[in-house]
Amino acid sequence: MITATNWVPQPTDDGSFTFFSEAFGEAFHSRKGAKAEAMHKFAQATELTQKAQQPRLRLLDVCYGLGYNTAAALETIWNVNPACEVELYGLELDLTIPHAAIAPPLIHSWSPVVQMVLRQMALAHACTTPCLNAKLLVGDARQTIQSLCQSDFQADAIFFDPFSPRRCPQLWTIEFFSLVARCLAPQGKLATYSRSAAVRSAMQAAGLAIGTIPLGITHLSHEWSQGTVGSFDGQTLHPLSQMEQEHLHTRASVPYRDPSLCDAAAIILERYQQEHALSTLESTSIWRRRWGIR
Ligand SMILES: C[S@@+](CC[C@H](N)C(=O)[O-])C[C@H]1O[C@@H](n2cnc3c(N)ncnc32)[C@H](O)[C@@H]1O
Repeated sequence: MITATNWVPQPTDDGSFTFFSEAFGEAFHSRKGAKAEAMHKFAQATELTQKAQQPRLRLLDVCYGLGYNTAAALETIWNVNPACEVELYGLELDLTIPHAAIAPPLIHSWSPVVQMVLRQMALAHACTTPCLNAKLLVGDARQTIQSLCQSDFQADAIFFDPFSPRRCPQLWTIEFFSLVARCLAPQGKLATYSRSAAVRSAMQAAGLAIGTIPLGITHLSHEWSQGTVGSFDGQTLHPLSQMEQEHLHTRASVPYRDPSLCDAAAIILERYQQEHALSTLESTSIWRRRWGIR
């Protein structure tokens, strides 16, 4: 039996709850609003309101966690088209998290039908209804993604939501993005909250065109974007600003690498630091000064 006693719900500014991971030293969501983040940076950024007109959609939720990105996607799609048939895969290492997330008050952020999906995913690792065929693949996403690649799964939308690159570099490498990109349909979109140049250059190296998730009305002075969207054709992406384009020519764009897709975080970070130290690209602090970023 799974025990979930060490996951303590933490309120966020929109009234929804998140967890804090002691192992990764990071919260699972933005403090500004966990549900709002799932809706804005993942469901809206991958254009699910428009795509929901289609009779069928395929989704890939990389780092399923509490299942908020899956939940936000299903709410968005079925609000537009309740008959849309969804095929969904979630990838997650730690089953105690989806399990802890189906307890009140967390689950109450979602509609009854989506609550049922989250419960099934946590308890049975799958959910099948006339409009949904969903499976949770449990294990290291660097391994579980390989079975999806072999099955030729092609997602219309991918939610890419690991902990930050410094905390979880193994899921932000060129090699992992390359496998994830193989699961993206030709017209599909991949969204992530990260605006880091290292992440963006890894996405480009994996064959994706990239766009930005523009800032909202209120933002802090050091922020320049709410994330990144990738696609093969680059169509309908919000273009990077001049500042963001120049960021990609600084040392911050040195990507993370994991040639055998099984290295520990410390080894990937060390490899990254060595490449960063040898880089002849412009120093990122010069770029920061040029654009007045603290
Ligand atoms: C930022 S949280 C994801 C939040 C989630 N998308 C949500 O809406 O609740 C990152 C997740 O990645 C998972 N994770 C960490 N390393 C992983 C790995 N190697 N493979 C798969 N999942 C991993 C963690 O257990 C955690 O649930």
